[in-house]
Amino acid sequence: MPATEALTHGVYLVGVDAEGVRNLMTAAWVTQISSNALLLAVGRTHYTAELIRRCGHFSLSVLTGEHREIARRCGTVSGRRENKLAGLPLGSSADGDPVLDGAAAHFSCRVIETAEVLDHVLFCGEIVSSTHFGGTPMQYHPGDFF
Ligand SMILES: Cc1cc2nc3c(=O)[nH]c(=O)nc-3n(C[C@H](O)[C@H](O)[C@H](O)COP(=O)(O)O)c2cc1C
Repeated sequence: MPATEALTHGVYLVGVDAEGVRNLMTAAWVTQISSNALLLAVGRTHYTAELIRRCGHFSLSVLTGEHREIARRCGTVSGRRENKLAGLPLGSSADGDPVLDGAAAHFSCRVIETAEVLDHVLFCGEIVSSTHFGGTPMQYHPGDFF
């Protein structure tokens, strides 16, 4: 087992609405870096990276154990090929990004810094609004998905 599997992460849905072009992507590489900012690592070639660069904002929905299938679907298919929003119970964040109804928490973030590091783009998002609904956040175990 690689040592990185000893690191702990949650499982999130990243939502973006770039002038009406909407997408959802599963992410585990998300971390809090100050009281009001989050860091998100998105693969350079992912549709989500293109859309967040375009609009400068994104949402995060904190998934619970009930959302494993949603996490799998939104984490294995690109929004360039499929509308991943179809059939999901969704609301909108303060900036209009899609969020999942039933998530443990929602965050609405505006990009304040972007950095390209190796094969990922790091988006530092200032939290402009958030809501905690409760429930137990899902823990990321790569073996559950890959
Ligand atoms: C549990 C899980 C966690 C993931 N975490 C990340 C992540 O932190 N960053 C990332 O870029 N991709 C992550 N992925 C892979 C993307 O979700 C996947 O490549 C997705 O299809 C990209 O979608 P898009 O092209 O619509 O943006 C994860 C996938 C799964 C299943």
